[in-house]
Amino acid sequence: MTSSAPSVALVGATGAAGSTVLQVLEDRNFPLRELRALASPRSAGRTVTFRGEALTVAAVEAVCLEGCDIVFFAAGGATSKEYAPLVAAGGGVAVDKSSVFRMDPEVPLVVPEVNGEKVREHHGIIANPNCVAIPLSVALAPLHRAFGLRHLTVSTYQAASGGGRALREELETQAREDAAGQAPSRKVYPHVLHGNVVPGGWRMYGDDTEEEVKVVQEFRRLLDLPELPVGITTVRVPVAVGHAAAVWIELESEVTPAEARHVLEGAAGIRVVDDPASQTYPTPREVAGSDEVHVGRIRRDPSREHGLALFVAADNLRKGAATNAVQVAELVLEYR
Ligand code: A2P
Repeated sequence: MTSSAPSVALVGATGAAGSTVLQVLEDRNFPLRELRALASPRSAGRTVTFRGEALTVAAVEAVCLEGCDIVFFAAGGATSKEYAPLVAAGGGVAVDKSSVFRMDPEVPLVVPEVNGEKVREHHGIIANPNCVAIPLSVALAPLHRAFGLRHLTVSTYQAASGGGRALREELETQAREDAAGQAPSRKVYPHVLHGNVVPGGWRMYGDDTEEEVKVVQEFRRLLDLPELPVGITTVRVPVAVGHAAAVWIELESEVTPAEARHVLEGAAGIRVVDDPASQTYPTPREVAGSDEVHVGRIRRDPSREHGLALFVAADNLRKGAATNAVQVAELVLEYR
């Protein structure tokens, strides 16, 4: 990789996460010699907007990735599997949002606030964790470092956009249909999401959703706690953007909510939003558009020894996907 501004490509530029990568590159003034917008052949010739200008989308092919220093992948696992190794072989770095490389020991899984130094260990591919694993690790790593994490229970409230642009649009359509007194239509998801709460919709692995399996594996890897007991239920809610989670943790010793709050207030990437008396706590609507993980409702959990309860929310498209990927790419440039 050269030391001048990098040549960058974005695979999945038309998707929910990919279009947010464009926005985050712009917001963070990411240094660029060139930016190539790529997607499926369906989108070839369409344009996306970057820094106020139209960028023409091309169908991804190996030749489009030649000479790229950094390639962001946000186009699903099959595309990453096919093209990310080509980027690595060509001397570039693939920053991959899909789950295909996340548990590969040769591929670092990185959240900059949690284990940014792992970026140095890459062999041309770096994995961006799952959109729940990222905010959960940002919120809990500081508490683990300060007090030792012994047990974790999580219930998630995940936005439609986490299921891609198609699910977000389906939710919007259903809201209009419901308001018009029509039966809500359904194409991409097994249930009507509008006016509903769905503890599934992901592929099942035995009794667990694929999402539950991913969050547990990735969270343990990020915090280097391979044996941590974790109980989790992942739930899709009729929200456009912003994943939230109710979290219960057990620590090695007794920790007061004030001590936990103090640690979180000093931690990178976190905003403590915690004054329930004035109805102030994290919500998806408030966190949407933000790059910080919001943490609140910090209180004792009297049902377990050394227990604390918290509520966490993050923009699943930004910190849960695009912002984390762009921060990883910034570290790649810093360490080169
Ligand atoms: P396209 O818009 O051309 O289908 P989302 O996560 O919002 O569903 O978006 C998925 C992204 O991945 C879109 O940009 C989509 O492009 C892209 N994509 C899906 N399948 C492929 C593929 N086989 N090759 C390249 N890009 C793909």
